Amino acid sequence: MSTILVAGGAGYIGSHCLWLLRQRGYHAIAFDNLSEGHRAAVLGAPLIEGDLADRAFVVKTLREQKVDAVFHFAASCYVGESVTDPAKYYANNVATTLTLLEAMREAGVKTFIFSSTCATYGEPVQDRMDESHPQQPINPYGWTKLMVERMLADYSRAYGFQYVALRYFNAAGAHPDGTIGEDHDPETHLIPLVIRAGQGLNPNLKVFGDDYPTPDGTCIRDYIHILDLAEAHLLGLEYLRKGGPSTAFNLGNGAGYSVLEVIRACEKVMGKKVPYQMVGRRAGDPARLVGDARKAHSTLGWTQRFGDLSTIIQSAWKWHESHPRGFDG
Ligand SMILES: NC(=O)c1ccc[n+]([C@@H]2O[C@H](COP(=O)([O-])OP(=O)(O)OC[C@H]3O[C@@H](n4cnc5c(N)ncnc54)[C@H](O)[C@@H]3O)[C@@H](O)[C@H]2O)c1
Repeated sequence: MSTILVAGGAGYIGSHCLWLLRQRGYHAIAFDNLSEGHRAAVLGAPLIEGDLADRAFVVKTLREQKVDAVFHFAASCYVGESVTDPAKYYANNVATTLTLLEAMREAGVKTFIFSSTCATYGEPVQDRMDESHPQQPINPYGWTKLMVERMLADYSRAYGFQYVALRYFNAAGAHPDGTIGEDHDPETHLIPLVIRAGQGLNPNLKVFGDDYPTPDGTCIRDYIHILDLAEAHLLGLEYLRKGGPSTAFNLGNGAGYSVLEVIRACEKVMGKKVPYQMVGRRAGDPARLVGDARKAHSTLGWTQRFGDLSTIIQSAWKWHESHPRGFDG
C-alpha cells in the first residue's frame, strides 16, 4: 500500500490532516522533529521522529515506507521571529524544503501538497484577495513561503513534480471531539489567546488598534476551520492524482471577522467575560485580510462544513476547556 508522509504531522494543522487522512482510509504517517509539535497529537498514528534537513534519513524513510505523496506542513511559523531571526526561517523553511524536494527526487516521489500562506501576498490591494493578487511579502516568513512556491513551479516544469500550494488564511478551531487542538508556545493566534484570556490564563490580551477603517475600528481577518483546511488537502491530492495541473489555491472563509467580533463570539460561547486592553496599532498589520477561495470551490469542489465563527470557536473552546495546559493536560 502506498503511503502519504505528513511532514510536520505532530503540529497543529498537520495532526488534524493526518487524522482526516486516516479516517478516510489513506495510509498516512507523520514525520516530525517535535521542535514545535506534540507526540500525543498524532493520536496513535505512526510517527517517524527526524529532521527534514537530514536528507539521507528522509530518502531512507521515503523508500522504506513506500511513500508516494508528501504533505509538507513543517516550517517555522512565527512572523515576528522571522523578522528578528531571518536565518532560522530561510534555513528551516527554504533550505530544508529544498533538501526535502531533493530527497523526494532521489526516491522518485513526485506528488507534493504544500502549506503556503496569505502572507505571500503582503499588503492587500484588493478587498477580497484571489490567487492573482500580487505576491509581495512584507516579512521574511512570507518570503520563505513564496520562495518555496517558486521552487515548486520550477521543479514541476523541469522534473515533472506535481504540486498544489495551499495559501491558508488563519487556521482556527480544533477537532470537534476536543481530542486535538492548537498548542503553540508562544501562542500568537487570536482565538486561543482570547479563550485563554477568558480562562484567566492570559492576563495580557491586547487589541492592537481601534482606529482602522473597519466598522468597529479593529482589524478584520479571515478564519478557516482546521478540518475544512484538512479536507482541502485531501481534495488537492485527488485533484493531482486525476492529472490536474500543479497550481496554488487560496483557502479562506471569504468572511472576515474583526478582533472585537472574535472576542464577543468567544465570550458568548464560553459564557465568560474576556478581559483585554486596547493599545495602539502594531506595525505591519493591514486593516483587512480576507481571502477569495472561489478557485478551490470550483476546481477542487471544496466546501466548508465548519464555516461560521461560532462553530469554529465552539470547537476551539471544547479543546481548551478540556486541555487548559494543551497536550500537557
Ligand atoms: N496556523 C496558521 O494559521 C497558518 C496559516 C498559514 C500557513 N500556515 C502554515 O501551515 C503549516 C503548519 O502550521 P502549524 O500552525 O500547524 O504549525 P506547527 O508549528 O504547529 O507545526 C509545524 C510542525 O512541523 C515540525 N517541524 C518544523 N520544522 C521541522 C523540521 N525541520 N523537520 C521535521 N519537523 C519539523 C514541528 O515540530 C511542528 O510539529 C506551516 O508550514 C505554516 O507556515 C499556518
